[in-house]
Amino acid sequence: MSASVETSSIDLAALRREFPALSLTRDGAPVVYLDNPAGTQVSRRVIDRVRDYWTTMNANHGGLFLTSERSDAMVERARQAAAAFLNASVDEVVFGANMTTLTFAVSRAIGRQFRSGDEIVVTRLEHDANVAPWLALESLDVTVRFADIRTEDCTLDLEDLERQVNPRTRLVAVTYASNAVGTIPHVKAVSAIAHRVGALVWVDAVHYAPHGPIDVRDLDCDFLVCSGYKFFGAHVSILYGRRELLQRLAPFKVRPAPDEGPGRWETGTPNFEGIAALLGAFEYFAWLGGDARPERSAFLKALAWIQSHERALATRLIAGLAEIRGVRIYGITDPAHFAQRAPTVSLTWEPHRPEDLARWLGAHGVFTWHGDHYARVLIERLGLAGRGGTLRIGIAHYNTASEIDQALELLAGYRA
Ligand SMILES: Cc1ncc(COP(=O)(O)O)c(C=O)c1O
Repeated sequence: MSASVETSSIDLAALRREFPALSLTRDGAPVVYLDNPAGTQVSRRVIDRVRDYWTTMNANHGGLFLTSERSDAMVERARQAAAAFLNASVDEVVFGANMTTLTFAVSRAIGRQFRSGDEIVVTRLEHDANVAPWLALESLDVTVRFADIRTEDCTLDLEDLERQVNPRTRLVAVTYASNAVGTIPHVKAVSAIAHRVGALVWVDAVHYAPHGPIDVRDLDCDFLVCSGYKFFGAHVSILYGRRELLQRLAPFKVRPAPDEGPGRWETGTPNFEGIAALLGAFEYFAWLGGDARPERSAFLKALAWIQSHERALATRLIAGLAEIRGVRIYGITDPAHFAQRAPTVSLTWEPHRPEDLARWLGAHGVFTWHGDHYARVLIERLGLAGRGGTLRIGIAHYNTASEIDQALELLAGYRA
């Protein structure tokens, strides 16, 4: 395989060779990573970028010497690549520790604007990182309302969202994809509903980012957050904020830190090596899209292929699970609507506990997840709190059809 590939002819075996961790074995057999929603494996470009950082540019920001200049140039390239990834401008891209920390930090800054009686609407699909920071603002006498889901397929009930939003609503927080059940809500419609009453829109794209293209302009959101370790990079997160808001809102910051640009939101010394890793992840996407440069056109090609490959795998997985008597799948199961779901499949299989199923699969080299996936509100709404949550099988684009078959076969053969 050449250094770049045509998206129409992506060679899965060659792609997998880009990820050193995919050759890990257990008891002589390759392991199967279906724990991807909790964190993906990294391409060798990511590893190379981190090594390069430590060996050729390890210095703090703003020094007037070689390593510092190199480090600053690398951060700028990563910021440009992130802007291209999100269809944002470079000065709208903020790096931070992780989505949770960024959301707590910016929500506090947003909260400074709120008055007693203001309201926030969040959905019942959210990871708690898009719930708890908003609940924390209740100390300002702000009310948090929840927009419901349809429990039969775990889709967002937009009519209920419309009912929750009113002229007092100052912000609507919505996920771009549920990390527990895969649902991709109609975020553009949520933005339209929120903006009708002048509310801000906060989008959690952490689970969506490895699975599809993000366009903050098209979504018409005010903020969007995603985390590098979920899309083949490192433990660094990216916040998009509308330029005018990033300038107008007042961050909690130290006084000597910049007052202009994204730097005013990047509290403390950034994780430079993690940002280098992010650049490596963007270069990987570009390579997959047939370009050496991390540009949007290449990202879009890569993500189009990822979507079609993952959809085929999710279809296979869901069809296979439906054949195991007693398995109940949470989320969209009708293939006609698979465009509205990520390839993340949650299930229960009574009387077996999700934890026991995950342990069984793990002991046989197939890595999945169990529990509430921090989507506490959703798991409660589904009546699964106190029952161990779900078993979650989370596909990434480097998975193969035979890995799906292996997981299905093992699950069907579960012995307590
Ligand atoms: C949908 C979703 N949102 C937010 C988070 C929290 O992200 P982070 O680990 O970057 O704080 C996660 C982590 O699993 C997630 O899946």
